[in-house]
Amino acid sequence: MAPWWYTAGSALLLSLQAAAWNYSTYSSMGFQPPKLEVSKTGTTHPGYIFLGPRGDVQDAGSAALIYDDAGDLVYEGPEQVTANFKIQKLFGKDVITFWAGDMMSIGYGYGTVHILDDTYKEIYTVKLTGNFVSPDGSSKDSYCDMHESQITPRNTLICTAYNVTQHDLTSINGTSSQWMLDSQFHEIDIATNQVLHSWSALDHEADIPLTTSYQGLGKDVGTQDAPYDAYHINSVATTNHGYLVSLRHMWSGYYLFQNGSVMWQVSGDDGADFQQIGNVDFSWQHDMRVYNETDNGLVLNLFNNANTPTNEEAETTGISMAIDLDKKTVTGLRALADPNDPIHSVSQGSYQLLSEVDSHAFLGYGSISKVKEFDSDGNVVFSAQFGDDNAVASYRGYRCQWTATPFWKPSVSVQTTSSGATVYMSWNGATEYDNWVVYAASSATSTNNTQIIATAKRTGFETSATLVDPPTTFIQVVARKDTTVLGTSEVVSF
Ligand SMILES: *[C@@H]1O[C@H](CO)[C@@H](O)[C@H](O)[C@H]1NC(C)=O
Ligand SMILES: *[C@@H]1O[C@H](CO)[C@@H](O)[C@H](O)[C@H]1NC(C)=O
Ligand SMILES: *[C@@H]1O[C@H](CO)[C@@H](O)[C@H](O)[C@H]1NC(C)=O
Ligand SMILES: *[C@@H]1O[C@H](CO)[C@@H](O)[C@H](O)[C@H]1NC(C)=O
Ligand SMILES: *[C@@H]1O[C@H](CO)[C@@H](O)[C@H](O)[C@H]1NC(C)=O
Ligand SMILES: *[C@@H]1O[C@H](CO)[C@@H](O)[C@H](O)[C@H]1NC(C)=O
Repeated sequence: MAPWWYTAGSALLLSLQAAAWNYSTYSSMGFQPPKLEVSKTGTTHPGYIFLGPRGDVQDAGSAALIYDDAGDLVYEGPEQVTANFKIQKLFGKDVITFWAGDMMSIGYGYGTVHILDDTYKEIYTVKLTGNFVSPDGSSKDSYCDMHESQITPRNTLICTAYNVTQHDLTSINGTSSQWMLDSQFHEIDIATNQVLHSWSALDHEADIPLTTSYQGLGKDVGTQDAPYDAYHINSVATTNHGYLVSLRHMWSGYYLFQNGSVMWQVSGDDGADFQQIGNVDFSWQHDMRVYNETDNGLVLNLFNNANTPTNEEAETTGISMAIDLDKKTVTGLRALADPNDPIHSVSQGSYQLLSEVDSHAFLGYGSISKVKEFDSDGNVVFSAQFGDDNAVASYRGYRCQWTATPFWKPSVSVQTTSSGATVYMSWNGATEYDNWVVYAASSATSTNNTQIIATAKRTGFETSATLVDPPTTFIQVVARKDTTVLGTSEVVSF
């Protein structure tokens, strides 16, 4: 299936297909992740880079991927289309969360949210079931859309959902019963998959009129298999009194009461309920997040695409603004952009505040296969690219701190040479080991091997060691931190 942004971006895509991105290969694992081209120009926040590349990526590289700052692979998940791959807190512990599933051509998806512990064991699988309608009428195993998979402070999970439904579109020059996408979110109990709270934009038409959409009702749109996407929900944040929802096609964020009514709206066009002060224009945005909320206001961060496949407003930025509920103002705080690399991202993207102490921020550029970290002064301290622009996308991109010791064993492969053999060792996802020991084994089943025949410091994802005249044709390798054993491979022969 073509990537979901393919139709709209096909002109760009075709012109770039000639440029070939490089992929890494390994002897001990069959992975082929895209090379991460890194430029580090300042002090970065600790943590690894979390990406979910897809599109024009070769199959063995379309997966949830963790890289380190040197650009070395740390973890590759199963081959699948993923989104929102990151670390979140669940019951006080760090867990991996990501969405995996199918993306539809007009930019939403049907999938499942996977939650893994620090051994990569899947501890929860979150699905959304119910009476949903899809464009071709087929039923799905789970209706969670890829745009949001946020764990809340109350240890529930919010996912977005797109439901195909018939509606009166005469207010926007359609007919009285055309097909459109309702934008919804559902708060789900993680252990039982029970839906605890649901919200639908169509239930709030008086607060969010269709006439305020920037997405026109095109002439080929409005049927069940090509439903009209008036709202395009793409992020949901929990707030003190309810939720903050981003609707990309409205160029707006909506603060919702717990009962789903709109308390206020901020728009990137004219401010809506607020008077705009400074640089607060935004359009086609993603990833609205709330900080420092009081009864008088809050700080709002968002990824300002300022572009869509058919409309270019401005350069893409990460913006931060203060909303004052007493004065009814929205004031620009900062707008992040790389003066040496102006970006126009037509879809997807993320704004992650890395720390409220040093204000570092990490932007994922969505349809442009780049991530950048900015310091408190707005200077770029880190840039990385993982594919050709508009050919490879990662819905969001994150920097996360993560410590993991996988439940699986280290991998090893051996290639014989004229004087002995070369051993290749890796341990997918392991963050803690720093060196390898190669033992001679007496047989394929020997478990108590003590004769060390090589040692090697860890070098990135895969480490090699040379064996000269090895005493046996069986070996076993051990991953260690200093002298502490963290993982032991199977015995392999060569
Ligand atoms: C791919 O690798 C070749 C050889 O190292 C290099 O010349 C080329 O610039 C690389 N391409 C990209 C897109 O990094
Ligand atoms: C989805 O839309 C259908 C109409 O097409 C409606 O019957 C159904 O209740 C909707 N589901 C949800 C969860 O809103
Ligand atoms: C509906 O059609 C009228 C008349 O052609 C036009 O003036 C108006 O802008 C249209 N409205 C929308 C929402 O397309
Ligand atoms: C939702 O709750 C708010 C705040 O309590 C209230 O002002 C509003 O009227 C409620 N909306 C509905 C439809 O009940
Ligand atoms: C929240 O407030 C604290 C204290 O005033 C400040 O240091 C911090 O930068 C604020 N966070 C944001 C995201 O503005
Ligand atoms: C493993 O080998 C060592 C050295 O030969 C020996 O002392 C030890 O008892 C063995 N352990 C087991 C469990 O066989």
